[in-house]
Amino acid sequence: SSNVNFSDAVLAWFDHAGRKHLPWQQNVTPYRVWVSEIMLQQTQVSTALPYFQRFMASFPTLADLASASIDDVLHHWTGLGYYARGRNLHKAALLACERHDGQLPASLDELVALPGIGRSTAGAILSLGFGQRAVILDGNVKRVLARYHALAGDPAKAAVATQFWSLADALTPSQRCGDYTQAMMDLGATLCTRTKPACERCPVQDGCIAYAQGEPARYPEKQRK
Ligand code: ADE
Repeated sequence: SSNVNFSDAVLAWFDHAGRKHLPWQQNVTPYRVWVSEIMLQQTQVSTALPYFQRFMASFPTLADLASASIDDVLHHWTGLGYYARGRNLHKAALLACERHDGQLPASLDELVALPGIGRSTAGAILSLGFGQRAVILDGNVKRVLARYHALAGDPAKAAVATQFWSLADALTPSQRCGDYTQAMMDLGATLCTRTKPACERCPVQDGCIAYAQGEPARYPEKQRK
């Protein structure tokens, strides 16, 4: 099973089954992608939708966010939870004004230097927002990769995480990287779910080792405590 076939199959599935009408997929900018990714870190799409719309109506640009008061920003977060996300958004907007002339930076190192942006969120901003080839590894993608390659071990452990990142990198195509990123998130969220995955509808069922083994829900493995 070659990596070319993996990303081609994922992209072909995205073309007919992927989500293409979410608000942050319209009028795409790095700023809109960033805000949506932060909201979606711990929140379902359906819950985040109205928050995203109100946030963008009040703070349409990064400069608007930077010049808003923290109280106003947190007011927009009321009910979403994990308020550190809202605080970090505001802090990062101020830093981007100081460091990057009011724009989000287009490099991995500069993005992860901003509060609230980890390596996977940076990868999502680069691929979805800037159209660069970049790698993501969020919870959904970890599950897809763990099953496809029957990767043993808990991805929360550093040595295992290194293997996951390396595999994620090897599978990421250089063409249509943004679509591939969105497709992997959608695959994990809609088919390759934590329990009862819908393998019969999966574009990469061929080649999935966990499927061949007959027990896909065993992966990813959790550390025994
Ligand atoms: N979860 C995290 N990022 C997402 C995105 N771009 N679309 C849908 N769900 C997501």
